[in-house]
Amino acid sequence: MSITTADLLTALRQRRSFGLRNVLPDPIDLNDIALILEAANWAPSHGNTEPWRFTVYSGEARRGLGAAFVAAAQGDAKAEVKQRDKIWMAPVWISIGMLPSAINPEWEELVAVGCAIQNAQLMASQLGLASKWSSGAIGTHDLVAKFIGLEPPAKLLGFLYVGKPAGEWPSSTRRPLADKVRWVSE
Ligand SMILES: Cc1cc2nc3c(=O)[nH]c(=O)nc-3n(C[C@H](O)[C@H](O)[C@H](O)COP(=O)(O)O)c2cc1C
Repeated sequence: MSITTADLLTALRQRRSFGLRNVLPDPIDLNDIALILEAANWAPSHGNTEPWRFTVYSGEARRGLGAAFVAAAQGDAKAEVKQRDKIWMAPVWISIGMLPSAINPEWEELVAVGCAIQNAQLMASQLGLASKWSSGAIGTHDLVAKFIGLEPPAKLLGFLYVGKPAGEWPSSTRRPLADKVRWVSE
């Protein structure tokens, strides 16, 4: 191992999610996205099923995805405007798909995709890039899944958007670990 435990803990603590308002719309180097997805691909999965599936939308390709978001808003005028505009707020949108295997319960495949996104966000943070997993009703809608080409039993679990941070790198806190752990020795 070439990094220290202190370095690793720092990287874990500094991984951050950014609201879209804190992301710059400017294009980013897609080689960075390739690195982020390489990190994602090293996630663990039970039986090495590797159920994560990604599609990367950038540049003009975001227009079609934005239209799918608008369609998913299904006539709610206010929601439609919001969906139409938000796609341009981040330069890269990665759909987070889960393709289940025949050998594992679905929950294990979902957890494995979560591990992949953790890896992805750790790499994004290391690259100084802002990102967030967005998993709301629109980002997981059947119409959007269909647009991406994720048909059942595959599932759309939302999007990881990525871009340059608009301001300072935010910090965060966690509630005490002691409230979440029991140590049993005897
Ligand atoms: C499975 C999953 C789904 C999430 N979905 C959303 C979401 O839909 N909207 C949102 O604002 N944040 C979402 N987040 C990001 C969390 O809000 C964020 O991780 C949490 O606030 C902790 O902040 P941090 O990532 O900066 O440590 C999601 C995170 C995970 C792991």
